[in-house]
Amino acid sequence: MSATSAVRPVLPPDIRARKGGAPLVVLTAYSTPMARIVDAHCDVALVGDSVGMVIHGLPSTLGVTMEMMILHGRAVVRGCQKAMPVIDMPFGSYEESPQQAFRNASRLMAETGAPAVKLEGGQHMAETIAFLTARGVPVMAHVGLTPQAVNTLGGYKVVGRAEEAAKVMADAEAVQAAGAFAVVLEKVPEGLAARITQALTIPTIGIGAGVRCDGQVLVVDDMLGLFTDFRPKFVKRYAELGRDADAAIATYAAEVRDRSFPAPEHGFPDEVPAKAGAVKK
Ligand code: KIV
Repeated sequence: MSATSAVRPVLPPDIRARKGGAPLVVLTAYSTPMARIVDAHCDVALVGDSVGMVIHGLPSTLGVTMEMMILHGRAVVRGCQKAMPVIDMPFGSYEESPQQAFRNASRLMAETGAPAVKLEGGQHMAETIAFLTARGVPVMAHVGLTPQAVNTLGGYKVVGRAEEAAKVMADAEAVQAAGAFAVVLEKVPEGLAARITQALTIPTIGIGAGVRCDGQVLVVDDMLGLFTDFRPKFVKRYAELGRDADAAIATYAAEVRDRSFPAPEHGFPDEVPAKAGAVKK
């Protein structure tokens, strides 16, 4: 975007300032065309590591690399004028030490142009979040179900029922104290998500966490019906683009086979027809 553009891009302090205000609208995006559509309607375009599952066909997010996040991050940044692109830090790129996290977060920001990153984890990531935010890396945190920990959690289960609730609350408080500008609450019981939202001074962005969060996020391929391998309960389908694409491609295949495509209007005649009124020399 040029320095003279009339559109002011959303930045982390704008998101932080939306606490308790109009709900924050967040969707994932992985490509420039989708980022343009998300940009027109949303506050944040999250380049989630869900890209590994919905675009690359991986069985989980664990195989996502820095290179994948940089490639998709650049594409999304190109498509955003207003909405804030946030890049997920992939598994293995930040857990080892605050220094490793800074090296990779600064690379994600420098090589994509995105103004913020997201990383998973609560109390155990607080030191890293403080290290990053003190050094110019705005962090969106992510607690509750953290899909990169699927193997230690034992599946994609609800996190925070019964005695687990106190830990999720402590995780959310810890990432706020460390300087996160917002926190994603994934698959957290609704009442607990509401209590966390009340307790925190930074916005909560829910996914499967009920309506009383400060905002909502969904994976765009889930809500458009493009990713159909499985459908979490918290996903509402706003379109059936996968089904529509299937029907369109079936029609194309049939028309190629019966030679009804391409039609004359899709081709180029051997002779260019003379323009009406033109004098043929
Ligand atoms: O990777 C992702 O898309 C996410 C959202 C589900 C929050 O982390």
